[in-house]
Amino acid sequence: MENQDWVYSNIVKDHFLNPRNFLFGDEKQFEFDAVGTVGNPICGDQMRMYIKVSDDRIVDVRWKTYGCASAIASTSALSELVKGKTLDEALKIDAKAIDDYLGNLPKHKFHCSVLGHEALAEAIKKYRDGS
Ligand code: FES
Repeated sequence: MENQDWVYSNIVKDHFLNPRNFLFGDEKQFEFDAVGTVGNPICGDQMRMYIKVSDDRIVDVRWKTYGCASAIASTSALSELVKGKTLDEALKIDAKAIDDYLGNLPKHKFHCSVLGHEALAEAIKKYRDGS
């Protein structure tokens, strides 16, 4: 139904209004091992994800973005889902998994949920490359 495309689930609204692990202020306030930055070619928004890693597991994470409500909710959810996961496990949490967790974003906003996953993948790549 057309009108349902305008409806955010309660969990999307909760993560948008109360974003988890959002990096407020200067990045020096968070001790991280790697950072990944990506841009969304569809809308031009950007996402940056910072990871703290120990024994091949993500022990903490922060992120910030210029993205929209859907990007904020998606990355907030992702940041909760990846904590405690191994790097390989975290890479498997893709935009589809985030969308499922959130009870589905409106279809035309699905592209926003890709940003967090891609920024995380970039951070993990940099961590593994030692850069
Ligand atoms: S419109 Fe750009 S991230 Fe959603």
